[in-house]
Amino acid sequence: LPILLLNGPNLNTLGVRQPEVYGAATLDDVVALAERTAAELGYGLRAAQTNHEGQMIDWLHEARGQISGIVINPAAWTHTSVALADALVIPEVPIMEVHISNVHKREAFRHHSYVSPLASGVIAGFGIRGYEFAIRQLVDVLG
Ligand code: DQA
Repeated sequence: LPILLLNGPNLNTLGVRQPEVYGAATLDDVVALAERTAAELGYGLRAAQTNHEGQMIDWLHEARGQISGIVINPAAWTHTSVALADALVIPEVPIMEVHISNVHKREAFRHHSYVSPLASGVIAGFGIRGYEFAIRQLVDVLG
């Protein structure tokens, strides 16, 4: 089964938005990197981004039984959304949480994550390479 790559709100503006924080790469670059990494490891990749919390939750419901694992950058919902965290409780599906920036050296409201207690691993501050590392680790965990 494929890996699901989900990106949350405002990540469609990667490359344009605060490049000093998030870098110059675009969301297309992220998806291309993730596809390449997954393919190298023998996995397909489904990638999606939305600015709408309910859409993200619907996708997670629809993904049940269809995917082997999830790599997610929940963006601002990391710090706000109990609803997203509830939807991420999916038995047998490991989750890797990715943040492009090092959220821990930023504002205090970015230090708490509703997603981290559900994640097998968390990566922050590695730029978009974090997505590659997360996919490699996910595939290791999938064994
Ligand atoms: C982010 C960090 C979040 O705090 C922020 O709201 C984002 C992106 C990151 O990738 O560094 O939108 O998840």
